[in-house]
Formats: sequence, structure tokens, C-alpha cells
Amino acid sequence: MQEKKRLVEKDASLKKDDLIVITGAGGFIAGNLALYFKKKGFTRIRAVDKKPLHDWYLRVPGVESLCLDVSIEANCRRVCEGAVEVYNLAADMGGMGFIERFRVECLRSILINTHMIEAAYNAGARRYFYSSSACAYNTLLQKDPKVRALKESDAYPAMAERGYGWEKLVSEMFCEEYWHERGLKTSIARFHNVYGPHGTWDGGREKAPAALCRKIIEAIDDGSRTLEIWGNGEQTRSFCYIDDCVKGIDKIMHCDELIATPINLGSSELVSINTLADKIEKIAGVKLKRNYKLDAPLGVAGRNSDNTFIKQVLKWEPDTTLNKGLAATYKWIKVQHENRKKGKRVVE
Ligand SMILES: NC(=O)c1ccc[n+]([C@@H]2O[C@H](COP(=O)([O-])OP(=O)(O)OC[C@H]3O[C@@H](n4cnc5c(N)ncnc54)[C@H](O)[C@@H]3O)[C@@H](O)[C@H]2O)c1
Repeated sequence: MQEKKRLVEKDASLKKDDLIVITGAGGFIAGNLALYFKKKGFTRIRAVDKKPLHDWYLRVPGVESLCLDVSIEANCRRVCEGAVEVYNLAADMGGMGFIERFRVECLRSILINTHMIEAAYNAGARRYFYSSSACAYNTLLQKDPKVRALKESDAYPAMAERGYGWEKLVSEMFCEEYWHERGLKTSIARFHNVYGPHGTWDGGREKAPAALCRKIIEAIDDGSRTLEIWGNGEQTRSFCYIDDCVKGIDKIMHCDELIATPINLGSSELVSINTLADKIEKIAGVKLKRNYKLDAPLGVAGRNSDNTFIKQVLKWEPDTTLNKGLAATYKWIKVQHENRKKGKRVVE
């Protein structure tokens, strides 16, 4: 039987004092999202993370900041009380080194979305955002560095990244069914490698752009003049700058055509890890000897974002160039590195 397409009632536009709830806000993307909404003039933002407040990358003045674990149902009810919009970005995650090694932790993030979406629905929230990932895509399509960019339909037939990717795919399905069965307006963005200031840059969860910036800064500082690269450096990826990511979240969340419809949120500027390192070296003004660590965790051979759909629906795509975004990221990580050396407290 063919399902009838549900009509989307237009909701009133978000008022400046409507309550916006953002989970994972002690982390990179959600912290920047809280700052984005605050700068837009929203006065009631509730930011939530399980990390102690002093470990948050960004504490935005005037934002209610709560330290709560949202894998616990009762906490989700508390967090969603009175919410008009809910942005769920909390997840146990990191770069390849983390998601290949800690699959159980990644899978357990299913508890977060399961409880958050139910709490948002029961609280009568108007819209619910879920941060999915390019790791939800079929890995069999990503075996070649000269990869064809991934379009939204490439998630099925499913063969997602073990652990992390499957959790994302199942959580996406929750969002789709809460709309179809219960009428909760959900939005699902598949992020592709987001990078920029105020993110993880050390400690094992960092992703390639931040890791390479830090390693180059350290190699200059300690005089080793050697850069360790995971794999042979020929693996390819695209990287989305944080400002594009938060702007994209806002656009996707408020587009009725995209309700319960996963969409790529990523840059389509494909580079190899070697090229990424070249670019950062140029910013730093050095050329280092490369040491290739061939047994390091690599993930898929190549991955890029096909932006046909987002351009068609939103007439927009992430467009900050890698050179511009990396320069800002490098500068920020250099300051963190210097502060740490001076014995100042920094969040990694
Ligand atoms: N950064 C990327 O490139 C990227 C790519 C694809 C998808 N994503 C997704 O975007 C979201 C945000 O990623 P990020 O890069 O900001 O990561 P992040 O690690 O910086 O932030 C995630 C935050 O969630 C918090 N968290 C984890 N479990 C929690 C819990 N039970 N209760 C409360 N808080 C909890 C963590 O403490 C952390 O601060 C995640 O869902 C991630 O899977 C990110």
C-alpha cells in the first residue's frame, strides 16, 4: 500500500525567547551551536553535557549550562522540559583511532537518542535535530581513495561503519519513525568530518585536521622536524568547517522539505591526508620529514560528500575553503599548545 504523504503544517517561526535545548554542548559542534544561537539573539538556550562544566570547550555567557548524562531517561525528561526545539548532538565519539577501538561505547550512544527523542516528543517540542554521520554510509562504496561522492541514498543497502555507523543509522530510523508514526518534526544531518577551533585537538579522540595541526606544532617546537601520518596518506576525505556546519544545522532544522529526510552536511572539496598535511605545513611555514605509520587505524579508503541534494533544496552548501578553515584552526591549536606549555589549564 502506498503511504500518503503527510502534509506539513507550517509552524510559527521560532521566537527569541523560545527554549532551545542543545545536548553535547560541552563538546565541539554543539558548543559552537550554542554560541551561534546566542549571537543570533536567542535568550533561552539550555546547554547540556555529561562533562564537568570546567571541561567544556565553550561556556557561552547567558546560556543555561547543565552537567547531566542524557543516556539516562529521567535526565532527558528534565532536559527537555519546556523545550520548543531540541538539538541532540551528544555522543561518545572521536576520530578513527577512537571509533575503531571503542565500538561498545559508540553503540551505547543509542541510549542517548532513544531517550532524548522520546523526552522531546513527550515535552511537546516542535522540532528535533539529530546529528548523524557519513559513517552511516555503506563502507563497500568507500574502498577506493578516488571515491565517488556519497549521495543520501547510498546508506542502503546498509553496511555502515561497525559500531559508530550502525548506531547512527538506527538513530536516524528512530527520527524517521517518530515523524511518520507520531508526527514529531525531525531533522537528520549526516556530518562529514567537521573541524575548526574549540574542538578536540589532543588525547586520542581528535580527528585528522586537528591531529595534524598539533603534530606539526609539536614537531617545530621539540625540534624533531618529523610528522607522523597514519597510513600512507593517500586516503581521501572532505572536511567541513565549523561555521558552515552550524549554519547548515539551522538551515536543515528549519526546512519543512527536509523533515525526517537524512541529508549530507559536508564539504565536497576532496583531499588526501598528504595534501591536508601539505596545506597545514604551508600555514606553519615548514616542511617536515614524513613518517608513515602503516598499522594505524585508517577507516575507509576514501569518502566525499555529494552535495547535489543540499544545493537543490537549500540553494546552499558548505563553502569555506580548506585553506581558510585550516588557518583559523591552526592558529587556535597553537594558542592552546602555548598555553599548556605555560602551565595554563586548557581543554583538549
Ligand atoms: N566532528 C565530526 O567530524 C562529526 C562527524 C560526524 C558526526 N558527528 C556527530 O556530531 C555530534 C557532535 O560531535 P562533536 O565533534 O562535537 O563531538 P564531541 O566529542 O566534541 O562532543 C560530543 C559531546 O557529547 C558529550 N556526551 C557524550 N555522551 C553524553 C551523555 N551520555 N550525556 C551528555 N553528554 C554526552 C561528550 O561529553 C561531548 O562533549 C556527535 O553526535 C557526533 O557523532 C561529528
